[in-house]
Amino acid sequence: MIISIGCDHVGFEHKALVISHLEQKGHQVIDLGAQSAERTDYPQYGKAVAHSVISGQAERGILICGTGVGISLAANKVPGIRAVVCSDPYTAQLSREHNNTNILSFGSRVVGIELAKMIVDRWLEGEFEGGRHQNRIDQIADIEKELTHG
Ligand code: RB5
Repeated sequence: MIISIGCDHVGFEHKALVISHLEQKGHQVIDLGAQSAERTDYPQYGKAVAHSVISGQAERGILICGTGVGISLAANKVPGIRAVVCSDPYTAQLSREHNNTNILSFGSRVVGIELAKMIVDRWLEGEFEGGRHQNRIDQIADIEKELTHG
C-alpha cells in the first residue's frame, strides 16, 4: 500500500519509527514532514497528508502530533477525509470496518511506539464493510456538501 505520513515536532521521533515499521511490512511511504524536531505547527502537515490521500497520491495517511487531535482536526477540514484519532487497536479496526477512515491519527504523548505499531497494523488490516455503514458515510458527505454548496 502507498501510505503518506506527517507529524509535527512532537510526533517526529514516532514518525521515523512508524516509517521503518511500514517499510519492513512492504508498504511504500511518502514522508510529508516535519523533517526535524524543531518546533513547528501541525495544521500544514495534516493538510498535506489529507491532500495526498484525496488526490490519490497515497491510498491512506497517518498523522502524529502530541495527542493526535490538532493534526487530525486539520486533516478533517479537507472534504472527503475521514481521520480518526485513536489510542487503541480496537477503535482503529472498527474505524476502518464501519467508518472507512482514510487517515489514522495518534498522539506520541499518548501511545508508546509498540502500541502505536499495533494500532497501525490493525488499522491497515481493517476492511470497510460497506452496506449500512456506507449509507451513514454518505450522510456525512452530504453534510460537507450542504456546508460547501449551501
Ligand atoms: C504541540 O505542543 C501540541 O499542541 C501538538 O503536538 C498536538 O498535541 C496538538 O493537538
